[in-house]
Amino acid sequence: MARLSERSSWKALAAQAARPDATDIIGLFDTDAERASKFSLEAAGLFLDYSKNPISDDTRSLLLSLAEHSSVPEQIKAMFEGRRINISENRAVLHIALRNRSQRSITVNGRDVMPDVTTVLERMRTFSDAVRSGNLRGATGKPFTDVVNIGIGGSDLGPLTVCAALKPYTEDGPKVHFVSNVDGAHLANTLKHLDAQTTLFIVSSKTFTTQETMANARSARQWLLTQLAGSSADEALVSKHFAAASTNLEQTAAFGIDSGHVFGFWEWVGGRYSLWSAIGLPIALAVGFDRFEQLLTGAHAMDEHFRSAPLAQNMPTLLALVGIWHTNFLGAPTHGVFPYAQDLAWLPMFLQQLEMESGGKRTDRSGSLVEYSTVPIIWGAAGTNGQHAFFQHLHQGTQVTPCDFIAAAHSEWDMPGHHEILLANCLAQSEGLLQGLSAEVVLAELAAEGVTGKTAERLATNRSFPGNRPSNTILLERLDARALGALLALYEHKVFVQGVIWNINSFDQPGVELGKGLAGDVLKDIRSGHASPGHDQSTAAMIERICTIRGRK
Ligand code: F6P
Repeated sequence: MARLSERSSWKALAAQAARPDATDIIGLFDTDAERASKFSLEAAGLFLDYSKNPISDDTRSLLLSLAEHSSVPEQIKAMFEGRRINISENRAVLHIALRNRSQRSITVNGRDVMPDVTTVLERMRTFSDAVRSGNLRGATGKPFTDVVNIGIGGSDLGPLTVCAALKPYTEDGPKVHFVSNVDGAHLANTLKHLDAQTTLFIVSSKTFTTQETMANARSARQWLLTQLAGSSADEALVSKHFAAASTNLEQTAAFGIDSGHVFGFWEWVGGRYSLWSAIGLPIALAVGFDRFEQLLTGAHAMDEHFRSAPLAQNMPTLLALVGIWHTNFLGAPTHGVFPYAQDLAWLPMFLQQLEMESGGKRTDRSGSLVEYSTVPIIWGAAGTNGQHAFFQHLHQGTQVTPCDFIAAAHSEWDMPGHHEILLANCLAQSEGLLQGLSAEVVLAELAAEGVTGKTAERLATNRSFPGNRPSNTILLERLDARALGALLALYEHKVFVQGVIWNINSFDQPGVELGKGLAGDVLKDIRSGHASPGHDQSTAAMIERICTIRGRK
């Protein structure tokens, strides 16, 4: 296969991006009264409008050719067939199997994985029903009122994002808390409000070796044993108050977790793609298993769309191509995500891991250094707050930030009048980014205020801006479990398509390992009170300084 930048579609796109009108979105609307409908589509209950991007019919055709020539359809097939597309770890990538609601079997090494998936889901149903109904109780016979999920990265952000997004549906379940940071503040602040008798811990860790998670889990166990000292034997306390979601059943047993409370998953589930697996147990506990299933159903609907829709009508593919256009041809260094839904406030963080851990790669699948940008920096926050903080940069800053606005037509909250204001602001921002504000309009406004001449000219330059700033808008009917499942799957598949085009492995994260190893070395030194040889000068000096300060008490 020709190198990416040597492909004809890539070269044609580069030529397209060099045109003087390459970023003129307003012009595209002016010349096509049908643009809004031609550049939008519906899938799995979601509506995507990508018309506010500088993408002409020709550019879109070229982007679709790029996807075609990059074997996107073949790679989609390969993923759904359970082929080992995670080449560095020699693993299949089958989060789609976790939410496969069809009768289709999905095989790895010739073995259908669906029976195992179904068994774990059934066990999660039984367990979450028992906790929620109060049938399963703590060591002192009291029902669980609080659940603390201990995990980090994919073992935290997925369930955390979903539990927050489905907050209106959490009233009838235990309160679910998330502890991820090894900073003792996180666990201490969480525990200080809890009663050990009514608290259930879930240690969520694919590997069950992650330093931060294991430190938090050990401290949580110690807290439990101290709080409930004397009420039962230590083993009984741990077995009654701890559950685990992990692939490492040996280590969960070594920790003392009752095998009946251990929910397994498989090596073909990547950490950042794992919320659909046993890692989703906190979700089932918070909103009930039926709603967890609705989440899976929504994701499955998006999977089916992704698997079967032609590229030109394929929502994840189009979202990916819009991103490729901005990143690789128009040079946008970052991408903003602005959910106009307070309950989706964690989504930008979730997407940071999903997109940046998957796409933050500098070598292609054959091991050569890539000669093009891969994933941009993903950032964002819930609207409308960002409008009063960093949106100024979006409108008038010197860098262009393509962004996604996400909104739901209905609110799940009963707060009359608020949702219309929220929606109005969401649409107004994308409209403002597109249209900008012309100097003529500003001058007319100033003239009406009696400001004219040089002062007016100066103010008009300052206040006016050209617009043509790009955005997508994703509209949900409402933020329920089904729509949320479809939304998260949409982004997962967007990441997949971009990874195929960039020819990178989106399913490993070797860069993260270096830090883990170094942290172990530095930890030994901090504990011993001195920097051992081998550190760079700056790090060694910092270790010594910290040890000195800590030595003073
Ligand atoms: O930070 C790297 C990483 O491996 C993530 O990919 C993963 O989600 C996270 O650590 C947590 O890993 P584990 O679930 O094994 O504790």
